[in-house]
Amino acid sequence: MQSILEQLQQKRELARLGGGQKRIDAQHKKGKLTARERIELLLDEGTFEEWDMFVEHRCADFGMQDNKIPGDGVVTGYGMINGRLVFVFSQDFTVFGGALSEAHAEKICKVMDQAMKVGAPVIGLNDSGGARIQEGVASLGGYADVFQKNVLASGVVPQISMIMGPCAGGAVYSPAMTDFIFMVKDSSYMFVTGPEVVKTVTHEEVTSEELGGALTHSTKSGVADLAFENDVEALLMLRRLYNYLPLNNREKPPVRPSMDPADRKDMSLDTLVPANANLPYDMKELILKTVDDGDFFELQSDYAKNIVIGFARMEGQTVGIVANQPLVLAGCLDIKSSIKAARFVRFCDAFNIPIITFVDVPGFMPGTAQEYGGIIKHGAKLLFAYAEATVPKITVITRKAYGGAYDVMASKHLRGDVNLAWPNAEIAVMGAKGAVEIIFREDKNDPVKLAAREAEYKERFANPFVAGARGFIDDVILPHETRKRICRSLVMLREKKLENPWRKHGNIPL
Ligand code: COA
Repeated sequence: MQSILEQLQQKRELARLGGGQKRIDAQHKKGKLTARERIELLLDEGTFEEWDMFVEHRCADFGMQDNKIPGDGVVTGYGMINGRLVFVFSQDFTVFGGALSEAHAEKICKVMDQAMKVGAPVIGLNDSGGARIQEGVASLGGYADVFQKNVLASGVVPQISMIMGPCAGGAVYSPAMTDFIFMVKDSSYMFVTGPEVVKTVTHEEVTSEELGGALTHSTKSGVADLAFENDVEALLMLRRLYNYLPLNNREKPPVRPSMDPADRKDMSLDTLVPANANLPYDMKELILKTVDDGDFFELQSDYAKNIVIGFARMEGQTVGIVANQPLVLAGCLDIKSSIKAARFVRFCDAFNIPIITFVDVPGFMPGTAQEYGGIIKHGAKLLFAYAEATVPKITVITRKAYGGAYDVMASKHLRGDVNLAWPNAEIAVMGAKGAVEIIFREDKNDPVKLAAREAEYKERFANPFVAGARGFIDDVILPHETRKRICRSLVMLREKKLENPWRKHGNIPL
């Protein structure tokens, strides 16, 4: 018996050593943690239950039959984050560069299947040289098996990807289908084809970092939600994100008790919006002053900054925040911001998270770049997402809500549950100046007359009461009571039930 126990111990130690001390040292030298160190940081202490530690690949080509490392380049299992269940896989770059073999993929699929059965999220820590080259098509099959499971799990359990090393070629598509992607600066990159291929095909010279580094994807492409300085920061922030999410689509998000009073007034909000409607202000100030304890977890903070998205809590309950940002492009909706917000709205809707929308939108961004880029189709994504969403939807118009963008931003017409406006809100087809230039074209050379018409239009339409008269907004509220009104609305909406008609799936404009 003793010798069997010793054998087990030895086998475990061997597996834990992965590709060996030399390669572990090399990993550390690059400023990266090992697969197991990452899991330890991500999960609550001592909660990790590892599966498939003894799995080996079955490849017999290119000398691989004599080159087997238990675990085969990925550490899988489950554990807890702040006492809540999570499944995890963590690719081990010290074992065959974390490259994905058939057996490696089977391990990932196994935890994904189990996560679906018990209704718990899956977190993938990616650090891999891609498909195991010695295995050829068997490893490609493995990738596709993972992709298929990603798709089936989408909207059922939250899926989060952390890119902590290379992620190239087909490997990018599993993270791409998950709900959130975090990256680590300087040590991770994602691209479909690397710099060498790019150089051959398009003659562009570009480094890995420029082509697919954390900054590229968190500022230019929008592929990544956030970029962090190092592994430790990234993993700790992932734990923070996790606290906002429900475990699956049948659960409500967790409630964290808060000492922040629901009826807390913030008088400074009464002067947040400048008297001059053309001056910007920071919408994030409203968000921070409204949510519990000023705690806002912003996503995609460096991409399409004209819209702000992220999670917060109201009376301890998770909410999704979507807000136009007047500081950037005057808060116009454009292609990038529409797509960014649409995907977030759909995540919240899939996982029972109420959506609070703060509106100050002068319209859609004009121009050939936007039209040629398909703003019609992409703007429709946000419209579709809001219209389809059945979770509680609360909207506060702080200033402008013009034109089609008014409709899109969680208006009453798209089944908004509670639609509020601040007293200075302007809910109209467009700004007064633009409006009179069109409807009183004959006065275009008479600035005095035009100014009078503009004042008249402003008086008549640039207010919240025309919409209020039709019930398109439920009330005009004082800015300082925004938090209280939202909290009350959320309580009222707690048991909201709304279903869309049966269908296989809708056909959101892609
Ligand atoms: N299949 C099998 N083994 C792989 C691999 C793959 N796709 N990618 C890396 N490895 C192995 C390397 O052979 C090396 O093994 P060793 O430690 O026994 O020498 C180890 O992983 C580390 O790779 P190395 O190239 O030394 O690391 P690096 O940090 O210098 O470079 C990459 C990392 C990912 C850029 C580089 O390994 C690479 O280009 N890999 C191939 C990527 C690819 O084309 N994948 C297939 C298409 S998806």
